[in-house]
Amino acid sequence: MVTQQDDNRRDFLILATSAVGAVGVAGAVWPFIRSWSPSADVLAQATTEVNLSNIQEGQMITVPWQGKPVFILHRSPDQIAAAKKDDAETMRQPEKDADRVKDEKWLVVLALCTHLGCVPQPVGTGDYGGFLCPCHGSHYDTSGRIRKGPAPENLPVPHHEFKDANTLVIGKAVG
Ligand code: FES
Repeated sequence: MVTQQDDNRRDFLILATSAVGAVGVAGAVWPFIRSWSPSADVLAQATTEVNLSNIQEGQMITVPWQGKPVFILHRSPDQIAAAKKDDAETMRQPEKDADRVKDEKWLVVLALCTHLGCVPQPVGTGDYGGFLCPCHGSHYDTSGRIRKGPAPENLPVPHHEFKDANTLVIGKAVG
């Protein structure tokens, strides 16, 4: 059952998202990074629920999860096609696009560059139409895969589920 409190929490998250989106660009280093390469256990813990209904095709938002920013991109057909087409390319960390998304319309990735942890710029930046980290020039594609620059790995995909057509849950409740 969805309570008023849940609604308020969701509204807060969207507002928080807008705020992070406004200030989270330009290569800022997320302040709460303790270490890079979070373990699978850490990626699975705690949840953030996000209302997807206002994110138009081609748009993305940034939400906080476990003190870290997460990009949620509502991919357009062109962005999906570009990611799938490049499955055949040589990659630094080979992963098929289909293995990185639960629903091809939605890309959910940790928004911390795998080089030194800067927050990449929003979708549509860089040489591959995905996310550019301007700190040292790492280019990620529309699947969040590293394609150029010093970053060693793809943007990690946190555990996530679609509760319904308009509700994304990032992380997994434990206990
Ligand atoms: S931190 Fe992103 S390229 Fe160095």
